[in-house]
Amino acid sequence: MQSSHEKILAPSILAGDHADLKSSLKEIEAAGLSWVHLDIMDGHFVPNLTFGPQTVKAMRSASNLFFDVHLMLDNPDKFVDAFIDAGADQVTIHVEPDYPITDTLKHIRKRGCKCGVVLNPDTPVEAAKPFLSECDIVLLMTVQPGFGGQSFREDILPKMETLAKWRDDFGLNYRLEVDGGVDLTTAGDCTARGVDTLVAGTAFFNAEDRKAFNATVTA
Ligand code: DX5
Ligand code: ZN
Repeated sequence: MQSSHEKILAPSILAGDHADLKSSLKEIEAAGLSWVHLDIMDGHFVPNLTFGPQTVKAMRSASNLFFDVHLMLDNPDKFVDAFIDAGADQVTIHVEPDYPITDTLKHIRKRGCKCGVVLNPDTPVEAAKPFLSECDIVLLMTVQPGFGGQSFREDILPKMETLAKWRDDFGLNYRLEVDGGVDLTTAGDCTARGVDTLVAGTAFFNAEDRKAFNATVTA
């Protein structure tokens, strides 16, 4: 079930230099990439904190990259407007918390922003099914969210196959994204299963040759 989309690497700024985010954005641009993945954590849905809309706005004024904003929040519906106002190009929201998910996806789209749902590693793939027709992208976590630098979970590979199959079966066209532990070894296992969008933090920023890293993982 190959994807019809061009494969994209979205480096996660979580592994960048938080005292100099502008330089990290420039490093992503210098590698010839067009996306950056922004991890927003609330210290409650996940056991870590990152940054908010003010920082995203400041990053927006420093870069034209496509901002792929991953909200790890208990109440994403309360914050989507702030991140769209700050310059998000795409907002992804988890299915695990209790809030009006379909309404939130519709709202994001109405605001001219791309949207999608995210599934934690232990959330069954069926949890995404009711929302697929409202999604530009579906994001599968391949680690428990909260921290960079964790090991890729191979038990998520079958969920990629299912979402790629559903995309074909239902005549949908969402991007299929994975996040967590993506590196030169694990990326191919994902793209072979129809994944077209790869988030990589640690492996991207540690790569000696980032252009070559991108060329290999998106081959
Ligand atoms: C984890 C974040 C990821 C993280 C990936 O909670 O959602 O985007 O930055 O980092 P690596 O590539 O280091 O696993
Ligand atoms: Zn993420």
